[in-house]
Amino acid sequence: MRTFDEYRQITEEALIPMLSSLGNIPSPLFDAMSYSLKAGGKRIRPCLLLAACEMAGGKLDEALPFACALEMIHTYSLIHDDLPAMDNDDLRRGRPTNHKVFGENLAILAGDGLLNAAAELMAGAALKTGSIRAVRAMESIMRHAGVTGMIAGQTADVTGEGKTPGEEEVRYIHLHKTADLLEASMEAGLALAGAGDEQIEAGRAYAMHLGLAFQMTDDLLDVTGNVDAMGKSTGKDSEQNKMTWVALKGIEGTEKDAGREVETAIGALRTLPWNTAFFERFAESLPGRDK
Ligand code: IPE
Ligand code: IPE
Ligand code: MG
Ligand code: MG
Ligand code: MG
Repeated sequence: MRTFDEYRQITEEALIPMLSSLGNIPSPLFDAMSYSLKAGGKRIRPCLLLAACEMAGGKLDEALPFACALEMIHTYSLIHDDLPAMDNDDLRRGRPTNHKVFGENLAILAGDGLLNAAAELMAGAALKTGSIRAVRAMESIMRHAGVTGMIAGQTADVTGEGKTPGEEEVRYIHLHKTADLLEASMEAGLALAGAGDEQIEAGRAYAMHLGLAFQMTDDLLDVTGNVDAMGKSTGKDSEQNKMTWVALKGIEGTEKDAGREVETAIGALRTLPWNTAFFERFAESLPGRDK
């Protein structure tokens, strides 16, 4: 296994070549897609996928198209999340949002394009190896990104604006808009390595609690964070009356709950037969993150 930084570097170098490998994407579309893809997010999802695959004895090369596909899906979700009809944000990953630079029409198409490119990449990789493990990884990613997963969570997020937050509703939003793609990282990485059902389930449980802690911290940073460190605007959630964990529990309550989710996430790793230090350290770093 490698360090988080090494996985991030590998992802950075592979993203644009993977996109270009699909063929000649016409210029304004390619520019809009690569603008957001290159903008440099934390790359958490692809790094977790690659690390999970290597931890379980899988091959990095075989996991890379799936890691890049997942980052493309995450990036599309951010482009659409920032649109005026959604969260109406001007700043993302330290740069003006996609629609501010390319216009809403191209931002919508760039998002569509990244989602489709992700599916194409994964299907192509599965076809090339003829491996059922690859099909399983693709199914996991598309399901968690889909209409019972991330898109369902985003729907609850936008339709929940202005309503009084209840714990069950906010948990649903966190589980789906955020935890689902992290669950996809672990499930797909482990599936590609040929891990068994119980191991995949343990990885999923880790990612679910990690995702809850991650989104609680995201809600917290919207109140307490620094715009320059995060590369996105703050104060948006209360402005838009979003159902957040902070609206529900306040700052201290959110810190406490995020810490508890981190502990639960780490506990879920116990049954795994591999060295899980990478994932323990990653979970421990979450509550203190500033971006
Ligand atoms: C932001 O995700 C959207 C959420 C699900 C909270 P990240 O905080 O991982 O964003 P990037 O990829 O680093 O920009
Ligand atoms: C976005 O959640 C989640 C997805 C894009 C799936 P937020 O709206 O809280 O993310 P930020 O705060 O804009 O990054
Ligand atoms: Mg949003
Ligand atoms: Mg947003
Ligand atoms: Mg947020």
